[in-house]
Amino acid sequence: MGFSADWLALREGADHGARDPALRCKAVAEARRIGGAAPVILDLGCGTGSTLRALAPHLPEASWRLVDNDPALLERAAASAHHAVPYRRDLADLDALPLDGVHLVTASALLDLVTGAWLRDLAERLAARRIAFYAALTYDGAMSWSPPADDDAAITAAFNRHQRSDKPLGRALGPDGTEAARAQFEARGYGVATAESPWRLGPADTALQGALFAGIAAAAGEAGAEGAPRWLDRRLSARAAATCRIGHLDLLAIAPQD
Ligand SMILES: C[S@@+](CC[C@H](N)C(=O)[O-])C[C@H]1O[C@@H](n2cnc3c(N)ncnc32)[C@H](O)[C@@H]1O
Repeated sequence: MGFSADWLALREGADHGARDPALRCKAVAEARRIGGAAPVILDLGCGTGSTLRALAPHLPEASWRLVDNDPALLERAAASAHHAVPYRRDLADLDALPLDGVHLVTASALLDLVTGAWLRDLAERLAARRIAFYAALTYDGAMSWSPPADDDAAITAAFNRHQRSDKPLGRALGPDGTEAARAQFEARGYGVATAESPWRLGPADTALQGALFAGIAAAAGEAGAEGAPRWLDRRLSARAAATCRIGHLDLLAIAPQD
C-alpha cells in the first residue's frame, strides 16, 4: 500500500471516521491543559496531514510541526493549514526532532512501522520533557470479513508476518505497536489509555477496499501465502455485497504530574 498521496487520500475518510472520539477528546483536553488555547503539536510521519485535519477543528489555535521524510507529502501537509511548519526529518534520528516547546506529539498509522527500540527512545525523550503522546490508528492484527472465507485466516496470518518483518526503521512491531508503546510510557509513569478504532468497510467503500485488498494480498504473498492471488480475486468480486473489519487501536499517554 505504501505511502503514496493517492493511498493516503483514499484512506483518510475511513481513518477520520474510525478514530475513537472519546480518546480524541481526551487528547485535545490534554493539549489544552498543558499548552493552553494555542498548544504546540508535533506530528510524526505526517503524510499529507491527516492528523492535523482530524484535530484542527477541535484545536483551531494550535501550532503544528509536521515531520516526514517525504518532501512531496510534507509539502501537501504544510499547505493544508496556516500554523504548520514542515520538518523534513528521518524518524530514525530522534535527536533531530524539534521537540522543544512541544506540548503534544501525535502520530497516525505509524506505530506498526516502528521498532521496540525506537519506541523506547521516543518515550525517553518525551518523558524528559513531560510531553503527551497520542498515536491513532495502529493496525492491531485482526481482520475479518462477512461473509467469511476459508482462507481469510491464512491471509491475515501471512499479512501479519509481513507487518513484523524488516522495514526501514528495523524489525517492525506490526500489530504489537500499541502494546509496546503502552509498556514504554507506563514504565515512565505515564497514564496510558487505549481504544479500538477499526475500519468497518462495506459496499460504499469499493475503491478503498480494492486498494486495501490488493495491498494485503501483495504483502501476504511476499510472506509466503501462495493462495494470495486467488483470495484477492474472490475478495474483489465479493466487494459489492461483503463487509470487512480491519482492527486498529488508538493510544493516549499522559505524562505524570508533580
Ligand atoms: C502510513 S503513512 C501515515 C501518514 C499519516 N500519518 C496518515 O495517517 O495519513 C506513514 C508515514 O510515515 C512516513 N515515514 C515512514 N518512515 C519514515 C521515516 N523513517 N522518517 C520519516 N517519515 C517516515 C511516511 O512517509 C508516511 O508519510
